[in-house]
Amino acid sequence: MDGTNKNLTRRQFIAAASAGSLAGIASKSIPAYGNVTKKAGKLAILGGEPVRKNRSWPRWPYWDPKVVDSVVETTKSRIWCRIQSKSGTVPTLEKKFAELIGAKFCVATGSGTQALHTCVEALGIGPGDEVITSPYTDPGTIASILSARALPVLADLDTESYQLDPDDVERRITESTRAIMPVHMMGQPCDMGRIMAIAKKHNLKVIEDTAQAHLSEYRGRKLGTIGDLGCFSFQSSKTIACGEGGAVVGNDEELMDKCYTVHNHGTSRRGRTEVAGPKYRMNEFEAAVLLGQWSGILERFNRRNQNAAYLTSALKDIPGIRPQKLYEGTASGSYYLYATSYLKEHFNDIERGTFLKAVAAEGVSLSPYIAQGLHREPWIDHILSRPVYKKMFSEKRLRQYREEIDCPNCDRVCREMAMIWASGPLLGSKRDMDDIINAIAKVYENRDKLSRV
Ligand SMILES: Cc1ncc(COP(=O)(O)O)c(C=O)c1O
Repeated sequence: MDGTNKNLTRRQFIAAASAGSLAGIASKSIPAYGNVTKKAGKLAILGGEPVRKNRSWPRWPYWDPKVVDSVVETTKSRIWCRIQSKSGTVPTLEKKFAELIGAKFCVATGSGTQALHTCVEALGIGPGDEVITSPYTDPGTIASILSARALPVLADLDTESYQLDPDDVERRITESTRAIMPVHMMGQPCDMGRIMAIAKKHNLKVIEDTAQAHLSEYRGRKLGTIGDLGCFSFQSSKTIACGEGGAVVGNDEELMDKCYTVHNHGTSRRGRTEVAGPKYRMNEFEAAVLLGQWSGILERFNRRNQNAAYLTSALKDIPGIRPQKLYEGTASGSYYLYATSYLKEHFNDIERGTFLKAVAAEGVSLSPYIAQGLHREPWIDHILSRPVYKKMFSEKRLRQYREEIDCPNCDRVCREMAMIWASGPLLGSKRDMDDIINAIAKVYENRDKLSRV
């Protein structure tokens, strides 16, 4: 975005847009809107020409011949399991990933959910304990707490950042709370300054759910290295991917040694079976896929950040499209997802579903993402009806848990979300980004016609 556009204030933009002269302004003063003016005619959903056609997005997950060679090499080596060699792909990945993230230690696992559960167990959290986390996340987050037979307590969100609201986190602390599990949604940092301060004040552990947030940086540190432990996912859609995979990172040697023991069916590096633990080892093929893509990881990360900055600089000026709020101290994000809120009051009250269909017809796919928060899913009835939870928690606590399950801000985020699965698309060209901007701007300009859709 150049200086010309910066000079166009939001008020001028809204005035121009509502006076129906946005296209004129766009052609003169908003170069980043590119060819929207020429194409701003009839909406594609009403039979007009789409902004984008016959062009594909960069595909995801990523592979190139180096990834294939790496898998072939592992196949031929006959080292397919991490315990066969100290220099196999899994131990190598652990060293390289710790280095990349700026952590002292790493233990690779079979998924992000496994990484999180490993941490919960290694910290000694179990029956009767509570862990505060977000309702706006993948079910794997709470599965890690439930697998330890602890109670996931859901705190509400900041509606603009989609992250945990630290005030609500603090409100939900009880005498049984042992840890906070902040989830860095969309690959952007939570308000970690405040979350860490709350944890310190109440003597709680912090397990960062960094499943979406590879390489994101906050106040000079990579996410995953701020709390006691950090957990990553390498599931297919993530910005570093191998199908299914995960990792725990941390700086405390003893605690990370415990993570190794837990994830290795309770058997330590010293060969003694010491604690109860699942078998969550990453296999050598998964690590081979990850190592095969290593050389391009930083380049792809930087490209997504550049494209995201370009998108935000244009989209923030479209009334009714509010890019995700980033907390002060955010230096970069993984941009696993590029997220915005759709505020229908700026679009003549047109429902989000109609808006998404209209943008899709222009050749740009936006997703509503998570349909409803985890506080609205049936697992709550399931655990509250189970004798084991009735044994672990008092009747009073379980009644209060049920009564306080509401998260209205999360409901709002679910209603307003309009995001792009960004791992592949944000690797695109400037023209690809312009297509996204132009498609949304075109629908905005034609919002009065959407009632006919
Ligand atoms: C925020 C979050 N937490 C946890 C997970 C679980 O990771 P995995 O699918 O690798 O088990 C995911 C995966 O989508 C996630 O997005």
